[in-house]
Amino acid sequence: MNPVKPRPSILKIAPYLQGKSELDGIKNPIKLSSNESPLGPSPKAIEAYRQAALTLFRYPDGSQHDLKAAIATRFNLPEENLLCGNGSDEIIQMLIRAYIGEGDEIIISEHAFAMCRVHALAQGADVITAPEPNLVPDVDQILSRITDKTQMITIATPNNPVGRYMTKQELKRLHDNIPDHVLLLVDSAYADYVEVEDYDSGMELAQTQSNVVMTRTFSKLYGLSALRIGWVLADVEIIHILQRIRTPFNTNAPALAAACAAILDTDYENMIRKHNNEWLKKLTKDITDLGIEVIPSVANFILLHFKPSETHTADAACKFLLSKGIIPRPVGASGPDNCLRITIGLSEENKIVMRALTEFMETQ
Ligand SMILES: Cc1ncc(COP(=O)(O)O)c(C=O)c1O
Repeated sequence: MNPVKPRPSILKIAPYLQGKSELDGIKNPIKLSSNESPLGPSPKAIEAYRQAALTLFRYPDGSQHDLKAAIATRFNLPEENLLCGNGSDEIIQMLIRAYIGEGDEIIISEHAFAMCRVHALAQGADVITAPEPNLVPDVDQILSRITDKTQMITIATPNNPVGRYMTKQELKRLHDNIPDHVLLLVDSAYADYVEVEDYDSGMELAQTQSNVVMTRTFSKLYGLSALRIGWVLADVEIIHILQRIRTPFNTNAPALAAACAAILDTDYENMIRKHNNEWLKKLTKDITDLGIEVIPSVANFILLHFKPSETHTADAACKFLLSKGIIPRPVGASGPDNCLRITIGLSEENKIVMRALTEFMETQ
């Protein structure tokens, strides 16, 4: 027995389960398990990454100046309200480390990013889960859980694994009713795909309200998951607090360069959004026509809900798809019962998925 003991709260954390990426005996499986962008990043981002290889002996720009300037230009935001992280995950971790401690309470909406819970437990905080009975962050469920100990609230919109969003009005109602000292973290990892009008990624609120922060990522629409770049929009004082705990070179030079080129290539961004949203619509309709419920999504994935039946369960569908070389994401207890999540893939991959699901529904 090892005499070295971790802090007790660490033992409450189950190790993170990554989306499957390999299948025994299948050479190039269709990986639809991690909500990555199947078309990859802008060629300009790849070129910037290659150029950065020439100066790998230098430390990166710790001030992240160029990327913050590019994000500020793209979204018309003040640079002083921005900070980049090693994925939005790192930003979320920094926020939780800075604002939550032993015995504090954090309210995490049911379908928020799974790592929020991990980071909060690591701090020794009490995690309070607010259910999402309508599969979207629920203002009243969250508000009813606020106590004197609440320090932070986290929601994801669009949420994951569902893909639904909170309306602008509901997000505002949530903010209007929380105490000023409670930090509201709006995780908008999938915001870049959303085209509906009554949506606020948190950008509007985070610009005007000092207790609202919004996190975004380059891992999804911008196709740079491997490089790990995310960012936050927050009040200047919060940025200064995060700067105190940020490691000086948390974002690496090739990643900064690629992200900078990616965010300024709006033609490429529009092409990716168009591909995603056309297939989102088509797959939603075609899969619904097969008799499988598809939860309406505004992100780059869909959640298939299999109606209670002895044969056509999410589990059976998952096994069937795996046998055809397609890797979906079982959602288990982190999603509604009997569901399977599938990322929108390349056109050819989506057609293969449709054929496989058709066969599954007909023959099993
Ligand atoms: C809702 C949500 N938030 C945040 C993240 C973290 O993204 P990253 O750390 O790659 O920026 C993910 C990743 O899948 C996610 O689904």
